[in-house]
Amino acid sequence: MIFKDKEKLSPRYIPENLPHREDQIKTLKSFLWNSLQNPSKALLQVLQIMGDVGSGKTVTTLRFGDEFQKEAIRRKINLKHVYINPKVHGSSRIILYRYLVQEAAPEIFSANLSAEELLIELIRHLQRTNRYLLISFDEIDYFVKHSKESVIYDLTRLNEISPGRPTCVLGIIFTARSTKFHEKLDRAELSTLGAFPIRFDSYSSKEVFDILEARVGGAFQPRAITNDVLEYIADITSSSPVNGDVRYALDLLLYSGTLASNEGAEAVNQEHVRKVVNATHPSITDEDILNLSEKGRVVLLAIARALKRAKSSYVSLREIRSTCGIVCEEYRLKKIDEIEEQVQDLADRDIIDIKSLTSIGISGVSTEALERFLDKLVDRIRIGIDKS
Ligand SMILES: Nc1ncnc2c1ncn2[C@@H]1O[C@H](COP(=O)(O)OP(=O)(O)OP(=O)(O)O)[C@@H](O)[C@H]1O
Ligand SMILES: [Mg+2]
Repeated sequence: MIFKDKEKLSPRYIPENLPHREDQIKTLKSFLWNSLQNPSKALLQVLQIMGDVGSGKTVTTLRFGDEFQKEAIRRKINLKHVYINPKVHGSSRIILYRYLVQEAAPEIFSANLSAEELLIELIRHLQRTNRYLLISFDEIDYFVKHSKESVIYDLTRLNEISPGRPTCVLGIIFTARSTKFHEKLDRAELSTLGAFPIRFDSYSSKEVFDILEARVGGAFQPRAITNDVLEYIADITSSSPVNGDVRYALDLLLYSGTLASNEGAEAVNQEHVRKVVNATHPSITDEDILNLSEKGRVVLLAIARALKRAKSSYVSLREIRSTCGIVCEEYRLKKIDEIEEQVQDLADRDIIDIKSLTSIGISGVSTEALERFLDKLVDRIRIGIDKS
């Protein structure tokens, strides 16, 4: 037996303790905790979180949001943390506001309301019922890149909807990988965002080790994993091209463990990890695939297939389109009409690279690694399609 509880390695699992993110949680507290003393007088706090891929931004926000909500309830304040992620919940403004209202106050939801009306109704309802929100808007950089609409302006000015009355939204946390999206914002949006993001530096090897050590306890049987193996994974994870993405480290642990288990081994060894490293690539993690819509997965599968067939690093949109038709037939799915849109979305998610309409490829994978990687990728996506 290798595993005790595989779920503990899943990207959706939120651990109780987050080693090496104590300072960031403390900073978030320093901005927001006071508002719980007298929430009806509190000003809307707008915060930004910035850090590279897999540096713990999302998990820290979720953990903090949960603690904040618990503390509010302890003080008899009716508060809810609402987490919004455009990669998961939809990438248009109206869809996200609908999601926000359904999470925060489903009783006032109406599909007839416009985006502006949804926010106004929401704030009035919160004021009437004496309820409060903390909103986390994750992946704002993806939203800004992908959509021409603006949400920052609306959300940072919720306090102007009924001046003189409590805002009822105590804080908004915007999260992004870098400040590059600032270039696309206008001056008003930039100034409401504030100049000082809370930084999440990429994890060092030692930090990755501590994080994994804390997580493997629940996931693996006592002797199924050794410090040697963890150190090896931590070294791979903290160096280029992974650069500290803990998500990759967790994928490595899961797949190496599965491999060891299939071989009937008693413990995971470095050789298991090495085999998995050779067949995976950090540019596309399981979570990326999990977050895609079915159409997104089908188009990605078509790209992988087309690349494999062409034995090249790039294929054209035309080839993708024809491969996509075949994939849809194979899985008995409806034909996808908006292939270009899906291809653009995959590029906005940094999963693929569009050099031009005739050269579309998968980001950051060398030609030699591509074949092996594509096989594995096709498997992973196929499992995703079959499941959904
Ligand atoms: N300090 C930590 N302790 C335990 N697990 C962690 C820690 N930091 C990150 N993780 C885990 O690593 C994975 C990636 O973290 P997370 O999703 O928060 O990264 P992120 O910074 O939001 O990345 P992205 O920019 O890609 O969204 C998650 O499964 C998370 O649970
Ligand atoms: Mg994230």
